[in-house]
Amino acid sequence: MTQFETVIRGGKVVTAADTFIADIGITDERIAAIGLSLDGARVIDATGKLVLPGGIDSHCHVEQLESDGSVHEETFGTAGRSAFAGGTTTLIPFAPQFKQQTIAAHAENYRARAARSPIDYALHQIITDPTDAVLDGELPVVIAGGVRSLKMFLTYDPFHVTDGEYLRVLAAAKRFGATVCVHCENYDAIGWRSEALLKAGRPEPASHAVSRPKVVEREATYRAIALAELVDQPIHIFHVSCGEVAEEIARAQARGVKVTGETCPQYLVLTAAEMARPGREGAKFMCSPSPRDAGDAEGLWAAIRAGTLDIISSDHCGYSFEGANGKAINGLDADFTRIPNGVPGLAARLPITFSEGVAKGRITLNQFVALTATTPAKRFGLYGRKGSIAPGFDADLVIWDAARRVTLTNSLMQHAIDCTPYEGLDVTGWPVMTIARGAVVMQDGVVTATAGQGQFVPASLSDDAKPRGVVPHDFDAALV
Ligand code: URP
Ligand code: ZN
Ligand code: ZN
Repeated sequence: MTQFETVIRGGKVVTAADTFIADIGITDERIAAIGLSLDGARVIDATGKLVLPGGIDSHCHVEQLESDGSVHEETFGTAGRSAFAGGTTTLIPFAPQFKQQTIAAHAENYRARAARSPIDYALHQIITDPTDAVLDGELPVVIAGGVRSLKMFLTYDPFHVTDGEYLRVLAAAKRFGATVCVHCENYDAIGWRSEALLKAGRPEPASHAVSRPKVVEREATYRAIALAELVDQPIHIFHVSCGEVAEEIARAQARGVKVTGETCPQYLVLTAAEMARPGREGAKFMCSPSPRDAGDAEGLWAAIRAGTLDIISSDHCGYSFEGANGKAINGLDADFTRIPNGVPGLAARLPITFSEGVAKGRITLNQFVALTATTPAKRFGLYGRKGSIAPGFDADLVIWDAARRVTLTNSLMQHAIDCTPYEGLDVTGWPVMTIARGAVVMQDGVVTATAGQGQFVPASLSDDAKPRGVVPHDFDAALV
């Protein structure tokens, strides 16, 4: 009888397709066998627990470089710790490009930071200045190096691109084989409304939500889709905040456009009302798009169940409340337009999604795995190695106690950030052990991973990223 290095014994194994009780045999960092009564040099008892594929957080900002020279407080080291604490085993953060600079200008710097990662990672490439030299000179090299997803911002200074620039990137992605992820909000509408709010003497954090209502996101989502349709280039819409925006994606999907979408836990459990907390507290909940109103989460769950939104990422952002680049600095002393956007969520993503989704009966266990691991792996070209439990896949696993009730606190998040917007939230379901490529990296909340243990995982061209190849109306291949 074969003896495996490690056997996970007797857990309920959950994939995106199946749920069954079995042992998992691990050798040489990979899943070697799934069966009954497997023999292992080391045996981990998972009886009574779920065994899930390690989570894949396909949208998180880690040690992100900013154009002003600052760097997000969350390093790869602390992000890896937090991710492992929450049952996630692969991250996909963002390599930067800044206006009037090449991609190469910061590539080495960011790669050197990532090389210290304790957790496996792939990368998205942000494009903010799509010159010919960038698109035809640098992009093919980046893609050949295993980075096959590009991030475009339709709003945000200094990342924001024009529609013309966005079109150029869509066409290049089609030429070289990449998917394009889009932040959809209308830049000019936000600017116009923010100016009016400031003139009206409303600089407080609560004005953030007022400056960018749903229609601002909905318009940009429709525009992003329409332009992608013109080019016949697949796109993925990041951080959808409400059912009305998901409706634009569903309408496009129904007419055959290759557009997919994700949402994040902040839109499932937070509301805009949090930003009206007294003093500067509201800044802790500020992200873009803005959290919406009580009741909007049900629209998102409906879109998730319909398959319109098929990934739940964290959009983790490494800004503390206090500190040099903290959210409190500008708070009420200045105005909401200067408060850094984004909330931390690496460790909270799986527990909140499980609790709100599975424990409350909104989705099945298999849908949970698909949303948090399998579909991100497929969409971003990691599947075959990451995102499921099958022989040959990396032994990235999380042993999950479906009955454990936990009240979220900042210390449970184990990130570098000094607050969590989920402080005090009760969840049902919690990771008790995380295994990354066969090594136990978290047990009962104690993370033991070391710097540099993570590997860069090159992405392949996923089916989702391939153009349809059908000729949409007005499409002219010679123009792409
Ligand atoms: O508020 C957010 N989401 N900040 C992070 C950057 C982004 O838009 O993804
Ligand atoms: Zn974004
Ligand atoms: Zn983001």
